[in-house]
Amino acid sequence: MPFCPLPITALTSDDAPALVALQAACFDSGGTWSAESWTTSLNLPTSRGAGIREDDLIRGVILAQVTEDEAEILTLAVHPTARRHGLGAALVRHLVTVFAPNRRIHLEVAADNIAAQGLYERCGFVRSGLRPGYYRRSEGPVDAWLYTSPGSPETPRGS
Ligand SMILES: CC(C)(COP(=O)(O)OP(=O)(O)OC[C@H]1O[C@@H](n2cnc3c(N)ncnc32)[C@H](O)[C@@H]1OP(=O)(O)O)[C@@H](O)C(=O)NCCC(=O)NCCS
Repeated sequence: MPFCPLPITALTSDDAPALVALQAACFDSGGTWSAESWTTSLNLPTSRGAGIREDDLIRGVILAQVTEDEAEILTLAVHPTARRHGLGAALVRHLVTVFAPNRRIHLEVAADNIAAQGLYERCGFVRSGLRPGYYRRSEGPVDAWLYTSPGSPETPRGS
């Protein structure tokens, strides 16, 4: 996994338009938010968002909700032209070490999203459940795998 050479910086509501554009480039169907949704999400007291910028463009983003003892990844995306250079892994590491140390972190991934499953497994997350038909797509429902961060209290053994 290559080392990401770009700095990870905080996001503000001024970034909302760039984040809309990034998600549009990253998600074929669903998973995209309006600028208003980004602004609202970034301003919640429990929100932790970080981005990787290059030449005034946002190349990657992670947004999570973090409470006292757990965290949930709400969105993670890396621009198609910047993938497989370690940005996604750097953003997940940032969440684990800076935003949510010592917390159980969980998330859902579509069963057909091989890239995201590969990333989370590479970062040590393990499957902890399945939500059948969780994603409603025009082509039909798609299952979601639940993933949990390593070493967390509710991580089932041997899953
Ligand atoms: C998932 C995503 C964030 C990965 O970002 P990335 O910057 O390319 O990931 P990295 O370069 O950090 O990859 C780290 C590791 O993850 C795994 N991985 C990444 N992309 C993969 C792919 N297409 N297939 C299989 N494994 C993959 C590999 O183990 C990789 O290590 P390697 O390059 O040494 O093999 C990116 O593909 C993306 O934005 N996809 C669309 C949006 C999305 O699905 N978001 C997640 C929703 S839960």
